[in-house]
Amino acid sequence: MSKENIKIGLFGFGCVGKGLWNVLEQTPGIRAEILKICVKDRAKTRPVDASYFTFNADELLYNEEVQVIVELIDDAEAAYHIVRTALSNGKAVITANKKMLAEHFEELYHLQQKHRVPLLYEAACCASIPVIRNLEEYYDNDLLHSIAGIVNGSTNFILTRIFRDGVSYPEALEQAQALGFAETDPRLDVEGFDARYKLSLLLTHAFGIRVAPKAIFSLGITRISPYDAQFAGEKDCGIKLIARAVKLPGNRVAAFVAPAFVRRDDPFYHVHDEYNAVKIQSSFADRQLFVGKGAGAFPTASAVLSDISALTYQYKYEYKKIVQASVPELSNDFVVDVFVSYNPGRDITADFIRVEEQFSSAARNYLVGSIRFERLLAAEWAKDPAYSIILKADTEIPVIRYEPQAELAFHY
Ligand code: HSE
Repeated sequence: MSKENIKIGLFGFGCVGKGLWNVLEQTPGIRAEILKICVKDRAKTRPVDASYFTFNADELLYNEEVQVIVELIDDAEAAYHIVRTALSNGKAVITANKKMLAEHFEELYHLQQKHRVPLLYEAACCASIPVIRNLEEYYDNDLLHSIAGIVNGSTNFILTRIFRDGVSYPEALEQAQALGFAETDPRLDVEGFDARYKLSLLLTHAFGIRVAPKAIFSLGITRISPYDAQFAGEKDCGIKLIARAVKLPGNRVAAFVAPAFVRRDDPFYHVHDEYNAVKIQSSFADRQLFVGKGAGAFPTASAVLSDISALTYQYKYEYKKIVQASVPELSNDFVVDVFVSYNPGRDITADFIRVEEQFSSAARNYLVGSIRFERLLAAEWAKDPAYSIILKADTEIPVIRYEPQAELAFHY
């Protein structure tokens, strides 16, 4: 890009779009300006001069003055068409739309190569935490062992309200929506889909793995029962929704999203409200923890601002892990330690390779044990929303590990 201000065509003027407008106004040093804003709703009044707005996408996409399209709308399918057209027209693109990116990654990756234009999306994953650029740049050579993250602000906010403040689930969800943290369809947050879109992006930048989000097992927070909350309290633990990717022997990676117990001495325990956190473990840097706001207008706009700034010095993702010699494969061949709580009337112990703790009462049963992940994926009971599945708290023995079948000769 030249020394002139870069000219932006902005799609969307909702929570984040407006946030970006304000952030740019308060950042005099940035060499960028918004030329035009495309919005959908003609009836809305907006706190910016009407001459900036258009309802016609082509006025941005085919405008030769516009160098960068910043896409901040909420409809993933419409966003995909905007991004695709913009890249094909040789425009750089910045987006925060994780669903769109995760679902169309393969095509968008190739469009970047074909048209030699950058597509940046730091805001799509953990908003203000610069995790994608860290994985791309800082961890470009270091051997990564694992990533674990609280990557969804809404669910962390809801769990905080329930556990710390004693607020009911519907009220906590309503607050997350009112504050602009939740997706328009909040099922994407509470059912764990948003977290798995983000995990699929993290897998790409951490390990070079390109995988459709639906191939990643995910559970949200909707199955967590008051009984589980009580159990957590008795064990001096909290419950967090965690996305994980763990390297296994044989160049394989285990990855899924699920609620997990976290002990008081785990840094995740202290990550509250809409904050996100990511733990990265690698061979040389060892353990690192990143914490920051994961949702909301300004934290998200700050990541977009950082991408805009990066474009002023020709930054683009090189996808170094994708082009490396041996990209690991996603695998379901591992053992995981879980807590399961369920209504009485069924015995699920046969599916477990070890049972550590078990309890039955007229109200609720629970079991803590080790199960092969493949078995968990296949088990009918695990698909039933009445069964709450929560990962055991991490101890010295990792809760996700590879155990060859032969060593698992006995059943409980
Ligand atoms: N709904 C998302 C969240 C927004 O709560 O994390 C930020 O990606």
